[in-house]
Amino acid sequence: MKKFIQLLLVFLVLASNTVFAAAGPSIVAKEFGKIAGKKVMEYTLTNASGMQVSIINYGGALTKIITKDKKGNAGDVLTGFTNIEGYLQKTNPYFGALIGRYANRIAKGTYTVNGKIYHAALNNNGQSLHGGLTGFDKVIWESIILPGDSSIQLTYLSKDGEEGYPGNLKVKVVYTLSVANAVKIEYTATTDKATVINLTNHAYFNLSAGKEATIKNHILQLQATSYNPVNDVLIPTGKIENVKNTPMDFTSPKKMGQDLAKVAGGYDHNWILNKKPGLAIIASVYDPSSGRYMTVATTEPGIQFYTGNFLDGSLQHTKNGIQYIKNAAFTLETQHYPDSPNQPSFPSTQLNPGETYHQTTVYQFSIH
Ligand code: GLA
Repeated sequence: MKKFIQLLLVFLVLASNTVFAAAGPSIVAKEFGKIAGKKVMEYTLTNASGMQVSIINYGGALTKIITKDKKGNAGDVLTGFTNIEGYLQKTNPYFGALIGRYANRIAKGTYTVNGKIYHAALNNNGQSLHGGLTGFDKVIWESIILPGDSSIQLTYLSKDGEEGYPGNLKVKVVYTLSVANAVKIEYTATTDKATVINLTNHAYFNLSAGKEATIKNHILQLQATSYNPVNDVLIPTGKIENVKNTPMDFTSPKKMGQDLAKVAGGYDHNWILNKKPGLAIIASVYDPSSGRYMTVATTEPGIQFYTGNFLDGSLQHTKNGIQYIKNAAFTLETQHYPDSPNQPSFPSTQLNPGETYHQTTVYQFSIH
């Protein structure tokens, strides 16, 4: 009898642990690979409903977002690679990565802060793109699991002069997976010299999780009645144009592919968000094939909608060997407008000593 009670107790403890593990959030950390002898970690966050998000501390990149489709089958809605070699390949188009110090382009890499001229590293048709040659996407971030098993924190010190940007910039990014299937990204930064800053995440989504080769059937709505037209090297002309009666109009839900061919090169522009300061939902995407629906909320004034125009099927080490062909995935990069440091009429991207930069973006998933 005593033995039976002991066994029963052991069983009950084990059972309660299992139930607890299935119901609560969890974070598992494992080595993803090595760069010059330094370990790169991958953190996998799981919430109570089984949604999973993985992040590596190389580039702070989101590597997986696994959500259920309308039939209850789990699928990964992010493009990505199976190993560190994939992320290190020269042509990696910033898959899932954190972007800084300046997301998108600065014309000729040249800008002025408080009367002093600076030159950011040139890496894109004579322009500076996504922070230069070694942007925040190409460095190893310090990483820790935060209490509560639903967040991880990444930090990086960008030294004074790095890639042509002034000031020692201390950056902190917190990724959280909520019980409501939201992936929240919170950025903060401080500097010891006046500088410019524009941080974002460059996740590429295909909500069909590999079923559809392109995102042309995805339906997008943007809370934006105007956008920044660009020149031939994708630098804003400075004009603000209304989207009405143009292919840029996503004020009502519209297939990404509907007017795609009418836009030279495809969509790769900043839309100006209709919003007050603070966090607000400004975009939604629906994939009819899977029933997955994603909303985007942000504190930022703009969003870069990019239809993966430069993807050409040549990337190696892809998940399941998928060929990421042109338009295989889209990005919705929340940001300040491109080239703001050279455009006095755009919202300022200057950060001064004593100030704290904040940006919050939330990608939330559901089934419709
Ligand atoms: C951003 C840019 C694009 C392209 C991609 C990365 O979305 O606006 O022009 O450079 O990043 O390939």
